[in-house]
Amino acid sequence: MSQTKTTLDNTIVLKKQLTPEIFLMKFSVPLLATKARAGQFCVIRIDEQGERIPLTFADFDPEEGTISIVFQPIGKSTMQLADLNEGDRVLDVIGPLGNATEIEKPGTVMVIGGGTGIACVYPIGRALKAAGNELISIIGARTEQLLFWQDELNEISDEFVITTDDGSKGHKGFVTEELERLINEGRKIDIVFAIGPAVMMRAVAALTEKYNVKTVVSLNSVMVDGTGMCGACRVDVGGKTRFVCVDGPEFDAHKVNFKELMDRQKQYIEEEKEALGKYQREKHQCRCAG
Ligand code: FES
Repeated sequence: MSQTKTTLDNTIVLKKQLTPEIFLMKFSVPLLATKARAGQFCVIRIDEQGERIPLTFADFDPEEGTISIVFQPIGKSTMQLADLNEGDRVLDVIGPLGNATEIEKPGTVMVIGGGTGIACVYPIGRALKAAGNELISIIGARTEQLLFWQDELNEISDEFVITTDDGSKGHKGFVTEELERLINEGRKIDIVFAIGPAVMMRAVAALTEKYNVKTVVSLNSVMVDGTGMCGACRVDVGGKTRFVCVDGPEFDAHKVNFKELMDRQKQYIEEEKEALGKYQREKHQCRCAG
């Protein structure tokens, strides 16, 4: 989309529903777009009362002055974000935050994406390919309707594999089964980058540890300030406390304590449900009153 001089910072210039559960939003943030790197994230605050929503970059375009994020509205804040439209503005898009992916040239690299992680691995795969690596991409979802960016990933990949749990598209099964098949076929994979639900990243990590393949995961822990001050995003990596927002978000997958990560992801579930219920009731009342 071409940018006009009148577009104000933090304006949504594109909103697209990628699957029944997943949205893409592109924001006009020219300064941030020039600094964003693969693997980093931003924090969006919709309004003064808004929670800070951490979202990994799905794309960025310095010339256009935009960054794109892909998200699944599962809580109150992401639901509120999904209710905004092209032309609406949010209060802040803060970033880039976290460390960029280390883009090296080991030879053959693999990116594995599940859920919204499909979008997050895209800029990483693109940068790894541009650095001269052979790129193998695997994406997975429960069913075909939940897949997106197949053409985009296919275009940057030397080999592109799709898996669905129900076999409606690509190989039936999980991303780990295809990863193991490739390893057993004798493919030499120098490093794997896996982004998706914690349970998927844990399964990838367990498999690659068995085959001694270096693996990096990008963690999606609960965040509050996103700047290393609050401690909300702490994770156990190799027995040491690390903060995802400043030490990550990427870590050596074989050292991450996934059980603790998943337990901590669940700790605010009741508060989140309550906030979501309140938001939906208020939205319903507004519609009835309007
Ligand atoms: Fe507060 Fe990371 S979100 S320390």
